[in-house]
Amino acid sequence: MILVTGGAGFIGANFVLDWLAQSDEPVINLDKLTYAGNPETLQSLQGDTRHTLVQGDIGDVALVSQLLARYQPRAVVNFAAESHVDRSIHGPGEFIQTNIVGTFNLLESVRGYWQNLPQENRDGGVAPTKNRFRFLHVSTDEVYGSLKKDDPAFTETSHIEPNSPYSASKAASDHLVRAWHHTYGLPVLTTNCSNNYGPYHFPEKLIPLMIVNALAGKALPVYGDGQQIRDWLYVKDHCSAIRRVLEAGRLGEVYNVGGWNEKANIDIVHTVCALLDELRPRADGKPYKDQITYVTDRPGHDRRYAIDARKLEAELGWKPAETFESGIRKTVQWYLDNPDWVAHVQSGAYREWVQKQYA
Ligand code: NAD
Ligand code: TYD
Repeated sequence: MILVTGGAGFIGANFVLDWLAQSDEPVINLDKLTYAGNPETLQSLQGDTRHTLVQGDIGDVALVSQLLARYQPRAVVNFAAESHVDRSIHGPGEFIQTNIVGTFNLLESVRGYWQNLPQENRDGGVAPTKNRFRFLHVSTDEVYGSLKKDDPAFTETSHIEPNSPYSASKAASDHLVRAWHHTYGLPVLTTNCSNNYGPYHFPEKLIPLMIVNALAGKALPVYGDGQQIRDWLYVKDHCSAIRRVLEAGRLGEVYNVGGWNEKANIDIVHTVCALLDELRPRADGKPYKDQITYVTDRPGHDRRYAIDARKLEAELGWKPAETFESGIRKTVQWYLDNPDWVAHVQSGAYREWVQKQYA
């Protein structure tokens, strides 16, 4: 049994789906079901006794303690967070509350549970023990700040220099996780990953927004000069890295996760447009790139992220399965093949579904 938090969001849901496709170990999925939490993503698991979705807040100590006591997980994987930089600029409060205070409360609930686990499992069974328990915290490369054009990629020892309310709140949570290991001995692991893309990505982030806007005939808003660089990883490769770190990562260690795919934003947008031209040409025969519009830049916009993933590759033998070219093609195809999921997100119908289900 594992407890996943934020498992109705983009990466968490991909993780839960992949986990249960590969193993029968059950998952308790604790998710607040904010605007970013979408149980429709998990619809294929309806009626599957290996998956239990619980609506709740990682900051709710009573609830989390009760779930831990009841289900006795051997690990907690923490995806729950507010995750969108633009939202953090307009309203940082939720980011402080969930990413910092929420993580603190989660750590305290987990510490209380972990401290009372047996040191060893006398009958040699699979019940969780103090030694075998793991808390894996999922974080971002954005905690390292911004790189200049010729700087080497971020390593696990790069300075922590966050620039947005989102990245500052994630950096704070990473520090708390580290401190709970050093002070209390909680067996933690932290992963810092580059930008993800793939199925079930909420269309407020660059790649899904460009796909859905293009198809809807809307403008494709590129911030500033479009020359900002992000390092892209297909979401399923991030999930496989997390599984690998959970399995074999050294306690208290940080692992950077990335696929060596630095791309300028404008090149990403051109790639998406070209794939759509091929797979779903515009009715008027014109190219989708005609919809690109340069708009005012994001305040404090980080210029470049790049991840050096050699520690994870060398120590744990992890390698991504997708190249950027294969991953982005699959992603565009997924959005073309799943118009209902997109339509429900766009119309807000996925929220009605949540309300009906959990009323
Ligand atoms: P997301 O916004 O799609 O999903 C977040 C999920 O957390 C949602 O289901 C939401 O309902 C849930 N949630 C929010 N507040 C909660 C709370 N207080 N208690 C319980 N659940 C809560 O985010 P994502 O893109 O899937 O990111 C998941 C994690 O991975 C985050 O911690 C993020 O910082 C990290 N990360 C994301 C990326 C990326 O490119 N998206 C890259 C590296 C790391
Ligand atoms: P985003 O997907 O929000 O991820 P992050 O800010 O966490 O890296 O944005 C990725 C890049 O794309 C970032 O440099 C901002 C830029 N961007 C645009 O140019 N236009 C947009 O509409 C969005 C959402 C992002």
